[in-house]
Amino acid sequence: MTAPVLELRDVVKTYALKGAFGRSAGEVRAVDGVSFAIQKGDVYGLAGESGSGKSTIARMIMGLTPPTSGDILIDGQSILGRQATLAHRQQVQMVFQNPGASLNPRRTVGQSIRVALDAHHYAGDRKARLAELLEMVQMPRHFADRYPHELSGGQKQRVAIARALAVEPRLLVLDEPTSALDVSVQARVIELLEGLIEQLGLTYLFISHDLSLMRNFAQDVGVLYLGKIVETDPVASVFADPRHDYTRLLLASVPVISAEEEALRPKIPLINGEIPTAEDLLALRTQAQTKEAQT
Ligand SMILES: Nc1ncnc2c1ncn2[C@@H]1O[C@H](COP(=O)(O)OP(=O)(O)OP(=O)(O)O)[C@@H](O)[C@H]1O
Ligand SMILES: [Mg+2]
Repeated sequence: MTAPVLELRDVVKTYALKGAFGRSAGEVRAVDGVSFAIQKGDVYGLAGESGSGKSTIARMIMGLTPPTSGDILIDGQSILGRQATLAHRQQVQMVFQNPGASLNPRRTVGQSIRVALDAHHYAGDRKARLAELLEMVQMPRHFADRYPHELSGGQKQRVAIARALAVEPRLLVLDEPTSALDVSVQARVIELLEGLIEQLGLTYLFISHDLSLMRNFAQDVGVLYLGKIVETDPVASVFADPRHDYTRLLLASVPVISAEEEALRPKIPLINGEIPTAEDLLALRTQAQTKEAQT
C-alpha cells in the first residue's frame, strides 16, 4: 500500500498565553492530539467553528510553524526539520480565505504568477506556462495584465489557485477558500477545484466552518472542536448519522434538501440563529444537568 499524501500523527500545538507585564499566564492547546490521513486524489474536509484550530493545522502543514509534538508526513516522509524549504513548498501549496490580501496589489496577475515560477526556478517556457495556468482556472489570457483591484473576489481566488498550481504541488491546503465569496461564486470555485483535482492528480485538505460545502466534495470529514477531532468519518455517514453533539450542532445550520433529511435532522437549539460556542455549549449542558437534577 502506498503512503497517504498527507498524514498527521497525534499533532499538538500549544501557545503560551501572556499575562500582565509579559508574565506567562499558562498555555492554550490550539491543536490537541490531531491525527488523520489523506489518500492521493481525495478531499479531506476539516470542519470546525472559529478558533477550533483549523488554520493552526494548516500553518503547521505548510511548515510555517512547528508542532509542539507529534509528526506530519508527506508521502510517508516527516516534514519536521525541513520547515518551509523550497522542496516542501513544491509539494504543498496553500490557498487562503482572503484572496485580496494574499495577492500583491502592485503586481499584475501575470507578474504574481511569474514570481511563483521564478521562486521555483521554473525551467520551461514561462509565457506558455502562464497561459496554461490561466486556462486551468478558466480565466481569459488577457487577465494576465490586470491588477488585483480590477478583479472580482472570485477572479482573485482563481488567480490565487493558479499561483498555487504554478509549481505543480501534490497537495493543496485550502483554508476557507470560498468563505469570503458570494454563494453562487462559491459553488463555481468549488466546481473548478473539483475539476482540477482529477485533471492534475491533486489531493486536497479543504478547511471550512461550513459542512454543507463538503457534502458533495469531500470523501472524509473531520470535525474539529477545541483543537480535537471529535469525529472523523466518510462524509455520507457524518451527514446521515453524526456521532458527536458538536457535529449535530454544525449540521443544524446546514440547509436541508429533502423532507426525509429534515426528519432525520436532530433538533438542536441555535443561539440567536448561531451555532453555540464551546462556552455556550458548556452552559447549555450545565443547564440541562441542573434541570435533570431538579426533576
Ligand atoms: N500565534 C498565536 N498565539 C497565540 N494563540 C494563537 C495563535 N494562533 C492561534 N492562536 C489561538 O489558537 C486557537 C486556534 O486558532 P486558529 O486560528 O487555528 O483557529 P481557526 O479554526 O482557524 O479559526 P477561524 O475559523 O476563525 O479562522 C485560537 O484560540 C487562537 O486564539
Ligand atoms: Mg482560520
